[in-house]
Amino acid sequence: MNINNCLLCNDAKCTKACGVYEPDKILRSLYFDNEYVVMNNIGETIPCLECDARCQQACPVNLNIQEILTSIRRDRSDKKEINYDVLKTDFCGIPLENPFLLSSSVVASTYEMCARAFEAGWGGVAFKTVSLMNIEEASPRFSAIKDNKRIIGFKNIEQLSDHTVIENIDIFKKLKKNYPDKFLLISIMGRNDEEWRYLANIMSDSGADALELNFSCPNMTEHNTGSDMGQVPEVVEKYCRVVKESTNLPFIAKLTPNVTHIEESAEAAIRGGASGVAAINTIKSLIEVDVNPNHRHFEASIGGYSGKAVKPIALRFIAELALDEKLNNKHISAMGGIETWKDALEFIVLGADSIQVTTAVMQYGYRIIEDIKDGVALYLMNHGFNSIQEIKKTATRGIVATDQLDRSYVIYPKFIREKCVGCQRCYISCLDGGHQAISIKEDKPVLDPSRCVGCHLCILVCPNQAIESSNVKVPKTNS
Ligand SMILES: Cc1cc2nc3c(=O)[nH]c(=O)nc-3n(C[C@H](O)[C@H](O)[C@H](O)COP(=O)(O)O)c2cc1C
Repeated sequence: MNINNCLLCNDAKCTKACGVYEPDKILRSLYFDNEYVVMNNIGETIPCLECDARCQQACPVNLNIQEILTSIRRDRSDKKEINYDVLKTDFCGIPLENPFLLSSSVVASTYEMCARAFEAGWGGVAFKTVSLMNIEEASPRFSAIKDNKRIIGFKNIEQLSDHTVIENIDIFKKLKKNYPDKFLLISIMGRNDEEWRYLANIMSDSGADALELNFSCPNMTEHNTGSDMGQVPEVVEKYCRVVKESTNLPFIAKLTPNVTHIEESAEAAIRGGASGVAAINTIKSLIEVDVNPNHRHFEASIGGYSGKAVKPIALRFIAELALDEKLNNKHISAMGGIETWKDALEFIVLGADSIQVTTAVMQYGYRIIEDIKDGVALYLMNHGFNSIQEIKKTATRGIVATDQLDRSYVIYPKFIREKCVGCQRCYISCLDGGHQAISIKEDKPVLDPSRCVGCHLCILVCPNQAIESSNVKVPKTNS
């Protein structure tokens, strides 16, 4: 049975029934691509096969937990004490116990929520954007695209914090007093010079460690605010200058992905005095249209898209920011679709200094930090790195412009006949969406190299992982 069927229950019945291990934690790690952490934590043997599988009898969906647990590869030599010091870093010179922050949104919008997140292990929070606007939210305000039980893409039409500035400052002071070592990034948004000045100034003595200027909310009901500002580099620069004159706190500009060239706004922010940038905020989107003719009052709003589905877009923007020499040594705070330790790592090797998360927390809770921290720390330790600084930007040079690609060779697919079940999906895709390079003999695919262009569509569509890359570069024959 597939791990994706696990409901990731809170107060999980499997763990209560087991009484020896914590199957819910193990299953969660597997769900979040963290088999290494499981292997590391469980050590040599789980005597599950001698047990009457109470865990799976208690599971509300009868997940085959025993089989999953006993099939985990275990190797004594993998066992290591996780050293969380490798995660220590900084945000514009301010120490961070780890680079993982809640991003500015509902997940970081009250004292009690931030306190729980800190206790769970997050290094800090970017608090929900503070403004002087009268915020009135709509209901409902979320919609989603799901794959089985998992939310893949998430749309929201939420705006900013609906607490007053003074209420929020009380929260920040209390958070800083009770959690002095946690990082408090306060998001602000003004409508004009006076408001930016006021907010920057009043936050200077609020407990904030740094500010994040929100130039990127796509859901604002007032025109010329949020992403309207972030789309105009001159406006970004102007308000950054106002903030620079009004506070000694370091600040970064949170940029909108609803532009073609994010570097233009990023460079404008740096010219205006920002210490770095954050990206991405949500992408303008419309998730679904009601086609039922009996529903006469269909209404939907364009809103901000986030979650797993936006990760490739976020990676693209972070790559462009990391490659921009004018941003060298400036802080890059990355977000957009980060759910797992591996997602976070991808952004770090691309050039991110800190990592922020919202949608995955909305879906799974603050507890995901355990796997993110363990996974990244163990990765660093297993590969002999002492800090995340050592891997930062190591993948940036791998981003190659399409006009720089070597196009002189073909890498053919390799068919693994023992794994092939004869569904012929590769054949159909190659026939109708490729180059007619696959034929079927005795129910199995056969490749015609003279037609194959090495596009790898067959590898991507095979539902049984029965096709791989040969990884061999064969020079093209100029026929
Ligand atoms: C419900 C919701 C509310 C949000 N509110 C804010 C906000 O007040 N300020 C802000 O800068 N970004 C806000 N965001 C954007 C997130 O901070 C983040 O940039 C975006 O969701 C992408 O990250 P993710 O894929 O991890 O959610 C909000 C996002 C969501 C889903």
